[in-house]
Amino acid sequence: MKQYGRITGWGKSVPERILTNHDLEQMVDTSDEWIVTRTGIRERHIAGPGETTSSMSVEACQQALERAGVAPEEVDLVIIATSSPDYFCPPVSSMVQDRLGATRAGAFTLVAGCTGFVYALVTANQFIETGLYEKILVVGVETLSPAVDWTDRNTCVLFGDGGAAVLVEASDQPTGILSCELGSQGQDWDALIAPGYGTVKPFSEETLRNGDHYLRMDGRRVFKFATRKMTNSVINVVQESGLTWDEIDLVIPHQANARIIDLAVRRLKIDPEKVMVNVDRYGNTSAASIPLALCDALEEGRLQSGDHVVLVGFGAGLTWAAAVLHWQPVAEEPIAVDDWPLLSNLFQPVTRVRNAVWSTQVTARARLQDMALAAMTPINQWQRRFKRD
Ligand code: COA
Repeated sequence: MKQYGRITGWGKSVPERILTNHDLEQMVDTSDEWIVTRTGIRERHIAGPGETTSSMSVEACQQALERAGVAPEEVDLVIIATSSPDYFCPPVSSMVQDRLGATRAGAFTLVAGCTGFVYALVTANQFIETGLYEKILVVGVETLSPAVDWTDRNTCVLFGDGGAAVLVEASDQPTGILSCELGSQGQDWDALIAPGYGTVKPFSEETLRNGDHYLRMDGRRVFKFATRKMTNSVINVVQESGLTWDEIDLVIPHQANARIIDLAVRRLKIDPEKVMVNVDRYGNTSAASIPLALCDALEEGRLQSGDHVVLVGFGAGLTWAAAVLHWQPVAEEPIAVDDWPLLSNLFQPVTRVRNAVWSTQVTARARLQDMALAAMTPINQWQRRFKRD
């Protein structure tokens, strides 16, 4: 019998300390007004002593297991999506597996930048669909603050720490991921980079002096990539799911910047009420941002059993990923599949045509906006230079 991956438990963990925009005003030449208008961020959580990628993962996983009523020994696999593990070696996933008491579980760490959680969820789903595993913990977690240059106003206002987890369990009822897309645009690998963290430039006095261990970002390049990929990948996964836009109840985008989300929402002509935004409270928590937003959406009652939700992420790599999920955390009466094929077969061509019209409109609109933005950039730059002079 075909197995589907049902999310049955979830949990989150963020550091106690909150760093507000006003705190940042005391540290670098910035203002609350600049940060809010350019990013939508008001505050972020920053890890203190003892708050690590593994400790946040363990807390989030324990909540997820408790919610699902599953014991740690029953877990088959732990997947941790992060770019900021406790150590370069060993993998943080094994530390989490041990601290949870998930004695039977395999464990691995997955690195795909801010897109990591969606990559990990899709991976977990594959293990379940093949029938190999039945209970998988998927975590998105980051402690990026040590990799942030707290004297660089271009980056330090953007990032925050946190983590969240889901438990995916095998189910024989159709639910979980309906469609997905995983992408990579590796030619832009240097758009978001910590050059002194790897083997190309091993840690040395020189890398320390140059600040090569800090995150550097070409903000505009990432901005352009993010708005284009968010729009296109949402179109692709909604189309592939066979659902119409009206059947999508919630979109949970990667929480990097409210302006990126706004632009994508306008291009897609989505009702903003259907879009989850919590970047104001956490900043960009990279791989943790989508599961944190999922947990907050559930706490706020924005996701009900039977809903369809789109997850969409983008980030370092550069990578992107999107998935449409049928949300049904608790097993319900099985769908009587034999009852509906005739009706659904009749409606399929209509849905396909409606989806095709919608995606053509969105793509044309996005192209026009890209062209308008490209034309405006030199004018804006000239205006800024003129004002400065
Ligand atoms: N406070 C005040 N001024 C700041 C500032 C800050 N924190 N950071 C940058 N500035 C200044 C710049 O120095 C620049 O000044 P100048 O014109 O005198 O040179 C000015 O603001 C404009 O900088 P610019 O880079 O054009 O700003 P922007 O509108 O592109 O916004 C980002 C910058 C980073 C907010 C934006 O590019 C962005 O959101 N990019 C995507 C980032 C992202 O999402 N990354 C994560 C991907 S997972």
